[in-house]
Amino acid sequence: MQKILIVEDAKMNRELLREILETDYIVEAVENGEQALQVLQDQHDGIAALLLDLQMPKADGFTVIAKMRENGWMDRIPVLIISGEDSVEIENKCFELGVSDFIHKPFVDSIVKNRVRNTIELFNCKNQLEKQIEKQSETLKKQEQIIKIQAEQISTAEAFNKLMMEYRCAIMEVETRLNVLNAMFSEEYKRNPFESIKSRLKKPKSIYKKLVKKELPVTIENIKETIADVAGLRVICSFPDDIYRLAELLLKQDDIILLKEKDYIKTPKSNGYRSLHLILSVPVFLPNEKKYMKVEVQFRTIAMDFWASLEHKLKYKKDIDNMEEIEKQLKVCADSIEALDYQMQEIRDKIDASNH
Ligand code: GTP
Ligand code: MG
Repeated sequence: MQKILIVEDAKMNRELLREILETDYIVEAVENGEQALQVLQDQHDGIAALLLDLQMPKADGFTVIAKMRENGWMDRIPVLIISGEDSVEIENKCFELGVSDFIHKPFVDSIVKNRVRNTIELFNCKNQLEKQIEKQSETLKKQEQIIKIQAEQISTAEAFNKLMMEYRCAIMEVETRLNVLNAMFSEEYKRNPFESIKSRLKKPKSIYKKLVKKELPVTIENIKETIADVAGLRVICSFPDDIYRLAELLLKQDDIILLKEKDYIKTPKSNGYRSLHLILSVPVFLPNEKKYMKVEVQFRTIAMDFWASLEHKLKYKKDIDNMEEIEKQLKVCADSIEALDYQMQEIRDKIDASNH
């Protein structure tokens, strides 16, 4: 059963109301505002409704209302005024202060019961609605937060896609320049300085892994600043001297900047790997701007490319029993390839010379 607090100085009224309500509610009755405030202070969460007289000694009804408003109790406990013959102004004033209803004297059983029950039910509905709205606005807030995060992710993805597009353009730029050189060169010397070009854009997963390895956060800035091989080209030449001739012709172009050169042909890696690596900064002409992008270009001979593909497979194999043996064999092959490449070059020179 729910609890009703009656605040009324006239004992007869108190008892009358108690009698009417005690079949349906637990009734607590006090005789003035001070006592009422004390009860409210102790158990405001446990009171379903307050029946309040206005004129009382020691803190009248308005004082009780003022204190309840101050403490926010009016939001939780409906107040019904027990009134004698109050004026319209007083009733209006009470409603303005947040009072829920009036019970007029003389008390009629059914009217008192109905008014109290309706008020409590209405108040519960109102409170539940408020709670629901609060919950809904919390859900909305969370959804807004999620949308904000998603928007941020999309914009990073957009920025990432734009960056990848710029790297793709940089690959096209270098590829075109190499093709132009190839065309001009073949016109002059009647042979192609390179056999083929392979290009690739570094995969997002590999970009991510590389940044994590460098212990750097995955940002557009860090990709641009710290990864030199997002755009990669491999130029496969027939002869070693074509490699240097091509690289020289490319670097002679006045808008290409050489950021780094690693010559693994002059100084092969201990495993036998031979290639010329150039990290270039290349202009890309976009609709509204000219941007310099980093591109890694690897030059190697056909035979060395064949070797590197095979050797590369070794990196992905773990726990190979005869690893050392294979490494040794690969090193021997790489050295033979070098010798072979230069022999082939000599033969080519002899053939070229005999043509004249
Ligand atoms: P990453 O390997 O790209 O992180 O850069 P790095 O600082 O080691 O640069 P380096 O110029 O040495 O290598 C760049 C790329 O050349 C590699 O990613 C490979 O594609 C290739 N490369 C370098 N060394 C070897 C090698 O020993 N064997 C093979 N198969 N490829 C190699
Ligand atoms: Mg690389």
